[in-house]
Order: sequence, then C-alpha cells, then structure tokens
Amino acid sequence: MQTQVVIVGAGPAGMLLSRLLDRADIDHVVLERRTREYVLGRIRAGILEWSAVDVIRSAGVGARMDREGDAHDRLNISWGGKRLLPIELAELSGRRVMAYGQTELQHDLYEAADAAGTTLLFEAADVALHDVTSDSPSVTFRHNGADERIDCQFIAGCDGYHGVSRATIPDGIRQEFERVYPFGWLGILSKTPPLPHLVYSNHERGFALCSTRNPMLSRYYVQCPLDDTTDDWSDDRFWTELFARIPAEVSDRIQTGPSIEKSIAPLRSFVAEPMRHGSLFLAGDAAHIVPPTGAKGLNLAVSDVHLLSLALITHFRDGNSAGLDRYSDQALARVWNAVRFSWSMTTLLHRFPDTTGFDQRIQERELEYLAGSVAARTSFAEQYVGLRFS
Ligand code: APR
Ligand code: PHB
Repeated sequence: MQTQVVIVGAGPAGMLLSRLLDRADIDHVVLERRTREYVLGRIRAGILEWSAVDVIRSAGVGARMDREGDAHDRLNISWGGKRLLPIELAELSGRRVMAYGQTELQHDLYEAADAAGTTLLFEAADVALHDVTSDSPSVTFRHNGADERIDCQFIAGCDGYHGVSRATIPDGIRQEFERVYPFGWLGILSKTPPLPHLVYSNHERGFALCSTRNPMLSRYYVQCPLDDTTDDWSDDRFWTELFARIPAEVSDRIQTGPSIEKSIAPLRSFVAEPMRHGSLFLAGDAAHIVPPTGAKGLNLAVSDVHLLSLALITHFRDGNSAGLDRYSDQALARVWNAVRFSWSMTTLLHRFPDTTGFDQRIQERELEYLAGSVAARTSFAEQYVGLRFS
C-alpha cells in the first residue's frame, strides 16, 4: 500500500486529523490497535474550548455537537463546604466552553470517516514505524492475519500515551517531563439531570467535581487514594462523600441515582519533546498528558491536529515546509501553557497526602483572592476557556 500520510491511532486526535486531511484531499490511512466498539466504549472528558469547537466545525463534524452540546458561560468553584464562587467565563473572557462528551465526538468522527470512505483499519497489531528520519518512511503491521506495509511521506503518531510512536524517537533526542500526583479521581455517570453549571470543589476531605454530559446524564468525581478500587466505592458511599465535599446549596439541587459507569483514573502531567522527529509528528496524548482538572486533554489534541493539518496542507499544496518545521515549537508552547494551568488548578483544589494546616490555609487564601479580584478571575477565565490560535 502507498499513501501520503499514515495516522497511527483512531482516537480523537487521529480521527480529527483524518477529517481535516480528507477535506484537503490529502490521501491517508488510519491504523487503530483496538476495535471500534472498544474505542467508543471509553468514557473520557467532556469540555471543549471554543477554539476546539471552531476546529471541529471546520472539519465538518460539528453538526450534532451544535445541536446537542451545551454551551456554558459560567462555572463555580467551592471551598470549605460553604463558599461558592461563580466564575463568569463569558463576561470575563468573551468566550464560552462547550459541554459535549468525547465519546459523542468520537462517534461523529467515525460516522464522518465511514461516509467519506476513509481507509480506517481496526485491530491493526504490531504497528512499527520505519525510516522516520528519511523522506520515505513506512509502517508495518498485522491485519486479518496478514503482514502489511504502507509506504508514505509522513507519519502522524496519534496513538496516545501507550502508543509506539513516541518510543520511535531515540532516547538521546527525546526528553520527557513528568509529575505524578499522589491521588486519583473516582468518576461516575448517572442517568440524572446535571446541575446547570460545573462545580469544582476544594475540601479538607478532598477534591470533588460536578459535571455534565447531556440533559439526562451527569458526571461526578471525587478525589480518592490511588490504591482504592471501584469495589471500595458503593453508590451510597460515593454520593455521601460527594455531598460532604460541596456546599449544601449545591448538594440540595443534585438528584442522585444508580451509577451506570464507575472508574478510577490516576492524575499525571507528562510532556515529551520534541513533537517531531524527521517524518514523524506526534499529536495528542502520544506527546502529552495533563491531569483532568483543567479539562485540557482533549483540547490539546484538537489544537495539535489543527496546527499539524495546516502545516501538512501547506506542504502538499505549495511545497512549503515552514509550518512542518515550526510544528513542534508551536504545539509545545500551547501544550506547556495548558500543562501549567492544569498543574496549578490541580494544586489549588486537591488535598495532598502531606497537606498541613498551612497548605490548606494557603489554598483557601488563594481562593479568597480569586473571589475578591476581577483581575485574578479574568486570568483564570482566560486560561480555562483557552487561548486563541495566533
Ligand atoms: N497501534 C495503533 N493504535 C494504537 C497503538 C498502536 N500501537 N497504541 C495505541 N493506539 C490507539 C489507542 O487504542 C487509541 O484508540 O491510539 C488511540 C489513541 O487515542 P487516545 O488515547 O484517545 O488519545 P488522543 O487521540 O490523543 O486523544 C486525546 O484527550 O480527553 C483526553 O486523554 C483524553 O483520549 C483523550 C485525549
Ligand atoms: C468531565 O465532564 O468529565 C470533566 C469536566 C471538567 C473537567 C474534567 C472532567 O475539568
């Protein structure tokens, strides 16, 4: 087989890149290790920055998001079990965010790929990248029991944190930066109406978050120890713990119900540099992970593939590779902004195992400062809704 671009990984990064290349008539093949059902079964984040909304629209996959997504112009932060601070995102930053589940977006991306006749191979095993420092790299894999090989000009490594692409960049060239947080998030989905606005909560008992998926589906999280398992958390225990961490004026408005999904996710910050090695370009979780506190993971995947698609389009259309040469630096500048913001929100809102009374008071003072300063809230809002593409 031969194509212009091989995309490794059919998560949101790989599939959105596929849509953007398709609209520019750039020939490509997508290889995914898992089955379609497996990818669609993953429950992930649900908040899109407006820049991401615009990219999704420009890729021609925004119709259902625009119909069913819920634009939010405000979020709330609570602390001490009593204080509840609205952050007026739209008023302060001029932009909103869109609540639309990643699972739904993934669904829309697969449907659009089907309609376009994209070559999208699921259960591609043993994917390996070859000659990535040449201008004629190739990708080998096993599919339906046969050994396959695709020759191409570029490879987009969109295969997530556990993929093979990042590891193709030699140790001497690749640098990795990491922070592992000493707690996880226990999340549930419940078929109950969500609150009208997100509530992020700092509490002595630990962080909590009330979020949303659609008018009859809510998503809630509580911080938990990393060695907990979902068996430790009955639905009753979950609701009791959530309610203990948020003000009564919030919990009074929450309708509880049985969980239809329950999982525990660890929190980490991770960045690999550079995001380009020869003909290989990394995008999304393959290059970076952020803790979910700032809701940036999916948004970074979108901004990476936006930059990468523009660079590839200019290369194939005009023979101009300046965008490809700039890609790693441009993407990493945005990535580190989000890494810094996600780290600071995580630090501000969680209880660390070694938290002392001093640390708790520092957190509460910072939150009071946010409450008392329009400048501080504006800065927060600007980062939460995300930077514009320059
Ligand atoms: N070969 C082929 N596909 C692979 C391989 C491999 N060796 N390794 C991993 N994959 C696939 C995974 O099965 C997965 O479907 O690559 C895909 C990567 O998708 P994600 O992990 O979802 O990563 P990405 O597309 O970058 O999405 C960004 O935003 O909300 C955050 O972390 C969340 O998934 C989200 C991310
Ligand atoms: C979610 O709805 O899953 C969600 C929302 C906001 C976050 C993290 C996760 O910061």
